[in-house]
Formats: sequence, C-alpha cells, structure tokens
Amino acid sequence: MGRVSGKVAVVTGAARGIGRAQAIRLAEEGADIIAVDLCGPVDTVVTPPASRDDLDETVRAVEATGARIVATVVDVRDGSALRAAVDAGVGELGGLDIVCATAGISSSAFALELTEQQWQTMIDVNLTGVWQTCKAATPHLIAGDGGAMILTSSIAGLRGLVGVAHYVAAKHGVVGLMRSLAKELAPHHVRVNTVHPTNVDTPMIQNDMVRKVFRPDRENPTREEFAEAATSMNILPIPWVDPVDIANATLFLASDEARYITAVTLPVDAGSTQR
Ligand SMILES: NC(=O)c1ccc[n+]([C@@H]2O[C@H](COP(=O)([O-])OP(=O)(O)OC[C@H]3O[C@@H](n4cnc5c(N)ncnc54)[C@H](O)[C@@H]3O)[C@@H](O)[C@H]2O)c1
Repeated sequence: MGRVSGKVAVVTGAARGIGRAQAIRLAEEGADIIAVDLCGPVDTVVTPPASRDDLDETVRAVEATGARIVATVVDVRDGSALRAAVDAGVGELGGLDIVCATAGISSSAFALELTEQQWQTMIDVNLTGVWQTCKAATPHLIAGDGGAMILTSSIAGLRGLVGVAHYVAAKHGVVGLMRSLAKELAPHHVRVNTVHPTNVDTPMIQNDMVRKVFRPDRENPTREEFAEAATSMNILPIPWVDPVDIANATLFLASDEARYITAVTLPVDAGSTQR
C-alpha cells in the first residue's frame, strides 16, 4: 500500500519543476493525477516558459509508476476553464482528495519600479490562480470524505525580500488564503496547509536572469558562481533544495500521517528563514 493509495490529486504547474515532482511522488505512492499547466509564456515573465512537451514528459513519468493521469493545458487565471479541467479529471478518475496549487511565475524589480502589469500579473497568477484552484476543487473534496490542500508559497511568504515585492505580497497572500480556507473547510474534513521552499533547483531559478540577480559582480555567472551566492541564503551549507524535497513534504501533508495537521506554514528551506 502506498501512502496515498486510491486517492486522486490535482496538481497545477505540473509540466515541470516542483509540480512535476509532486505529480510523480504522489503517483509513486498510489495516487492518480489530474495535471494542469499553461505550457506557454506569461506576459512580464522573461524566464523560458514550459512547453506541451514538458507536460507530456510528466505524463510519461506518472504513467511509468502505474498511476493514471489526465493532463490538460489550462491557465490558472481562467476560472471556468480550470473548473472544466478539474471536473473532467474527476469524472474520469472517480473523485478528488488532494490539491496541489503549485503553478507560479517570477519576475523582478524594486518595489517602486515595478510596472502595473508586472504587479497585476503576479497577483493574478500567484495569488488569484491559487484561489481559483481551491475554488474549482473544493466541491469535489466536500462531496467525498474531505481531503488535503497544499498551497506552494515560498520563504517569500514568511519574510520580505529585495527586488520581488509583488512576489512576496502574493506569497504572503497565499498564507492568508490558506488560514481562512483551513477554518472554513475544517467542518468538511478538508485540511489546508502551505509549503515554503527556499531556492529550488528548477527552471524558475536556473536561468540567466536569476543568476545575474545573485551575482551582479559577474557578467555571465556560471551555475557554480550562482551556487556560492545562493548558499549564503541557507543555514545548511547547500545552495538549493531539489523539487523532490518539496514533493516529499507535500506527500506527508497529503497523507493520513498528517490527518490532524491543518493551517500550518511548513518551511522546506534549509533553515533560510532563521538566517
Ligand atoms: N524554484 C524556486 O526556487 C521556488 C522557491 C519557492 C517557491 N517556488 C514556487 O514553487 C512553484 C513552482 O515553481 P517551480 O520552481 O517549479 O517553477 P517552474 O517555472 O519550473 O514551474 C512552474 C510551472 O507553472 C506553470 N505556470 C505558470 N503560470 C501558469 C498559469 N498561469 N497557469 C498554469 N500554469 C502556469 C509553468 O508553465 C510551469 O510549468 C511556484 O509557485 C513558485 O513560486 C519556487
């Protein structure tokens, strides 16, 4: 028996990075997966977008575990399309127990230099998109035996950071949403928690833009030069964690091992928030 055997999980941002790792890890432990991703660019975001091929790779990896997966290209900002994708996945897989609201973007500028579009797009994707995901999923959780929602925030949901005020505001907002949902949905046996990663080794940080933010002293910083600077953020002597580390925390919160844990902000941060 796997730790989430017989359950169904919806994962947004499932084409790559943390979302893909969550889909695979939950599938390895017995869950079927409803995978959602935009698979394309978002305005104001300069880092390379995920593709349909990336989502197809997630499908292959999940199926290799023996689990079933229904994958749809959807923008989490589009509430009705998201609801249709979740409803269709639930229809095919027979229910819903776990929600991983993971889709997200990053961009950077000092707070007073952000454009209105940068600010609004960030709030739309990283906060409103999480709310839309919870809204689309909740009726199915209530119709079943309850369930678990794991919202991916960040260390930026627990502290301020320079150059990403819109991201920090959205990630703090996710904590407020989680705390309110945890209270509203507790009577239905739905638990709601957030995870707060430090830097994670995904395309969101492994790109020229983020490397230059961390190493303004270098014209073309290498992965190793980025790693040196990133290590100084954590108390454990590592530059970043792996996507599977967030997936393992997600799996725990989704499983019955965490059956009485709700409204918790769980850092997976190599001690970063204690620095
Ligand atoms: N990588 C890090 O260092 C880090 C640290 C803390 C928190 N996070 C958070 O973890 C989550 C996942 O990040 P990641 O590192 O895997 O990044 P990633 O860029 O590798 O993956 C993000 C995925 O979300 C999808 N996505 C973006 N906007 C979308 C939209 N509007 N609708 C549907 N899908 C959309 C992308 O297509 C992509 O597949 C994000 O919420 C991010 O803020 C990441």
